[in-house]
Amino acid sequence: MSLQIPLRERSNGVAGATKAVILVGGASRGTRFRPLSLDVPKPLFDVAGHPIIWHCLTAIEKVPSIQEVYLIGYYEESVFRDFIKDASTQFPNLTIKYLREYQALGTAGGLYHFRDAILKGRPEHIFVLNSDVCCSFPLNEMLKLAQEKDAEAVILGTRVSEEAATNFGCIVSDAHTRRVLHYVEKPESYISNLINCGVYLFSTDAIFPSIRTAIKRRTDRPRLASYRSSENLASSFMLDDEAESEKNEVIRLEQDILSDMADNKQFFVYETKDFWRQIKTAGSAIPANALYLQKAMQNGSQELAPPSANIIPPVYIHPTAHVHPTAKLGPNVSIGPRATVDAGARVKESIVLEDAEIKHDACVLYSIIGWSSRVGAWARVEGTPTPVTSHNTSIVKNGVKVQAITILGKECAVGDEVRVQNCVCLPFKELKRDVANEVIM
Ligand code: GTP
Repeated sequence: MSLQIPLRERSNGVAGATKAVILVGGASRGTRFRPLSLDVPKPLFDVAGHPIIWHCLTAIEKVPSIQEVYLIGYYEESVFRDFIKDASTQFPNLTIKYLREYQALGTAGGLYHFRDAILKGRPEHIFVLNSDVCCSFPLNEMLKLAQEKDAEAVILGTRVSEEAATNFGCIVSDAHTRRVLHYVEKPESYISNLINCGVYLFSTDAIFPSIRTAIKRRTDRPRLASYRSSENLASSFMLDDEAESEKNEVIRLEQDILSDMADNKQFFVYETKDFWRQIKTAGSAIPANALYLQKAMQNGSQELAPPSANIIPPVYIHPTAHVHPTAKLGPNVSIGPRATVDAGARVKESIVLEDAEIKHDACVLYSIIGWSSRVGAWARVEGTPTPVTSHNTSIVKNGVKVQAITILGKECAVGDEVRVQNCVCLPFKELKRDVANEVIM
């Protein structure tokens, strides 16, 4: 008698189920995404017409063996409720749940804390995705490599310039076998330009024992192994003992797990040649928006505005937005719900958020216009283009480091004919005079 293999499993040849985890962080994170994260949690910020984590789910949905996805973070429960409701209709094959950490547990600590939920149904593999990356998420290819190599872990890698490499986790691998030989998070000196993209596939038999070993090591030698977590702002205000106990619970994949895996596990790297960017600073939403729009265009997405004399593709216009036919948009522009763009306006390489207004003959370039903000008639709001290969969102102007992208927070107003260049403007500000290279508080 032959065994019947269900179609979803047969289609990619994987016997066991796979689950996916998206690490969404919490309110104390995403500080570099200010002022935009003051009004919306970074994972829910819209790029190319959809929340950042919606793009992760689009890729996860393409893996036939995945049915369950967990968003793990330490935001309040209510934060993801509406998103999960919408996503459950848009991705009917996926069951999406939010699992809340009682405090920041680190990129591996949360996984370990929720291991019983993750291991329910005995999945063979789990994907772990950082929510703050923008890429094409070649998950099926990673799964295929895992099968070919009988891997315990596969990491997604990409090549960056030698100068940029030490800002990331660096991977030294065997070019022939693709085995990871060495992993160092943000090394002091150059070791490799193949870097960690923040997307992993782990066999469930390997990852949880590895985290357990790291926890044990920390418990045995807490003072030596602990460190002040720079992103945990709260800990700066804690008593030493309190901070110490919280730090000891933080376990990070990058610092505490991956380098050990390189030493003693079947750990491989899948190198993507496709696009990859981090979404850290608010300005980095602009390259992410451009890359996801370009991908949507390549895939022939029906969501994009049809090209015309005044629409230079790719452009996304929400169905409830009002764009005057004489306004010129694109390339790489997203216009949010109920936003208006009046006659003769020009918008290029920008995101215009919900309920924002761009008055007639205004010009918006390399900028993000916040929710319900207003750009007056003949005004000019502009940032500076950065090289397509750059992973940096700041530039040096007149010897001073400034943000390349101009950002207006929520409910800002730029007066008629006013020029705003390379500025970050906090919510509710009114700009009546020309400003350049400033943070307006
Ligand atoms: P650097 O990249 O080192 O500058 O740090 P970062 O704080 O910007 O990012 P990190 O690599 O620490 O985080 C990667 C992803 O994991 C992001 O999507 C974070 O939101 C998420 N993350 C970080 N810490 C935690 C945590 O304690 N719990 C959960 N659930 N997610 C986290």
